[in-house]
Amino acid sequence: MSYIESVLHENRSFPPNDEFQERANVSGLDAYHALCARAEADYEQHWAALARENIAWHQPFTRILDESNAPFYRWFDDGVLNVSYNCIDRHLPTRAAQTALIFEADDGAVTRLTYQQLHDEVCAFANGLKALKVRRGDRVIIYMPMGPQAIVAMQACARIGAIHSVVFGGFSAKSLCERIIDAQARIVVTADGGLRGGKTIPLKAAVDEAIALAGTDAIDRVIVYQRANAPVAWQEGRDIWWHDCVHGMSTSCEPEWMNAEDPLFILYTSGSTGTPKGVQHSSAGYLLGAMLSMHWVFDAKADTDVFWCTADVGWITGHTYVAYGPLAMGMTQVIFEGIPTYPDAGRFWRMIQNHRVTTFYTAPTAIRSLMKAGVDLPTQYDLSSLRLLGTVGEPINPQAWMWFYQTVGHARCPIVDTWWQTETGAHMIAPLPGAIATKPGSCTRPLPGILTDIVDELGTALTSDQGGYLVIKRPFPSLLRTLWNDPERFKRVYFPAQLGGTTYLTGDSAHRDEEGYYWIMGRIDDVLNVSGHRLGTMEIESALAAHPLVAEAAVVGKPHDIKGEAIVAFVVLKGACPEGESAGEVAAVLRAWIAQQIGAIAKPDDFRFGDNLPKTRSGKIMRRLLRSLACGAAIEQDISTLENPAVLAQLKSTA
Ligand code: WT7
Repeated sequence: MSYIESVLHENRSFPPNDEFQERANVSGLDAYHALCARAEADYEQHWAALARENIAWHQPFTRILDESNAPFYRWFDDGVLNVSYNCIDRHLPTRAAQTALIFEADDGAVTRLTYQQLHDEVCAFANGLKALKVRRGDRVIIYMPMGPQAIVAMQACARIGAIHSVVFGGFSAKSLCERIIDAQARIVVTADGGLRGGKTIPLKAAVDEAIALAGTDAIDRVIVYQRANAPVAWQEGRDIWWHDCVHGMSTSCEPEWMNAEDPLFILYTSGSTGTPKGVQHSSAGYLLGAMLSMHWVFDAKADTDVFWCTADVGWITGHTYVAYGPLAMGMTQVIFEGIPTYPDAGRFWRMIQNHRVTTFYTAPTAIRSLMKAGVDLPTQYDLSSLRLLGTVGEPINPQAWMWFYQTVGHARCPIVDTWWQTETGAHMIAPLPGAIATKPGSCTRPLPGILTDIVDELGTALTSDQGGYLVIKRPFPSLLRTLWNDPERFKRVYFPAQLGGTTYLTGDSAHRDEEGYYWIMGRIDDVLNVSGHRLGTMEIESALAAHPLVAEAAVVGKPHDIKGEAIVAFVVLKGACPEGESAGEVAAVLRAWIAQQIGAIAKPDDFRFGDNLPKTRSGKIMRRLLRSLACGAAIEQDISTLENPAVLAQLKSTA
């Protein structure tokens, strides 16, 4: 048995070393239990104390939790604050000259921004937005490449009380259009293009197309940051360069004082049905979640840490652990424009070495692909600055965990496997690394005050090691407040009546071992997790069905070595079922179509064509059967109710 196998076999746990534990923000299991006990003893006072200690309030709150309109919970709702003030201004007396952002561009060029410089840029852009008549409560779409300006744009919105909605640069014009319309935004902030892996990704062109789709009067202004020297079409009166927008603007801008419950941002995410959901977060509760998890899970040390979260600001991870959390803690952080494999697969390790990164947070999919690109590559770099590693987005397989632990962390750095969601705003289940021993593949225990449980369909709590629905029994400050424009869907999806209407349903299944450790098993709905990104099967199915060649389509996931899950599309064409080469051609057409309709991340890996889909006599598509077919597994399901068993053989072959 290999070393890794023996560890996994023993279900071994990894306590932090003495040095780490001694210096940790929360040291030892007793300290963790004490925090949890405090939360259980007086739930509201637990959160109130933390909110007072962590947030710089403009006016303190006197009310803690308002449950009168459950599940539309309100926290600290007579408090007044500004999130950008908390991330920047509050540090200026002590950290004005400290580096806030170390930006490494795709081509390796490094630029730094101190807290003072960040302040000045945010204020100038905030003033620029105000000059374009952006007001408190207005929605601003941000469709930008990864870089300091994306953070400046988000912070500037926060500063003037505008609600940003960042759209990941990999989403298509059509997806962008849907978000513009749903958010009723009048302003888009973008760049001419983004630079990734030596290639230019056109962004302004996608914005133009999105606005054309949305109706030309949908948007008043497009602010364009010049990044890639990409050619752009220009609409006078609507389009304005970023440098013109900030030209001559003052570098001070009084923050707009916001109510604790005012929305800070909307971030769209996929659900199991329908169009993407606009997850709406609050100001104070969200900020508190970001700060506490930085403190507890990332053991943040503002004076000595160099923090690096590799996520793009287009995802929640890039909101909480790039644009807000590290800044709120006064830390120095690395931000990166490019991709892990350009110019070579040593990029991440070289960056850790060169910037003396202490805390490195990335996705299991990146770890798996870098492991494949060179198991020993990290040993060529000096990674001795690292003290803490983290993962997010999907379960990490124990083999990848062990490699991350040994080859990257030299068996010295704890790994925090952080379970959370766009909706929860911040970590929910994750180790406090100086207190909780880790186990490969488990996100360990809930944070103090996060009352997780595992229940059956009726909400009855299950005992240890029985898999079931992962729920959170009490509202907590960083939880989403509603779905933008759709409060009914918010209630239905997250607080279903059969669980009593006040329990938050996460959409994941999990089990808990006898030591109280949580193990995430997967989604309970038709949501896929591809490379740590969430995609709704229905969304892809509707996009396929909208293609003129397609009569019917069903999409399922299958396990994938690197991506975690791969997308398999079962398609019935209007014409004859294609075979051989023509199947390959149709697949290529449909792949390109999906990239155009949703974005490249949603492109199916496999296509299976047939004359029909497997259905029950009542016409329901048998998805479990499709899942077996997708991964080539033997069919063990009862197919006696199957209307058309002959299609199964057809749907086995991949195009
Ligand atoms: C879904 C949320 C939260 C930031 C990135 C994804 C899965 C997330 C883990 C983890 C196992 C995880 C869950 C969750 N997930 N973290 N550590 N272990 N699964 O955010 O797009 O909102 O997706 O990602 O299924 O529900 P998201």
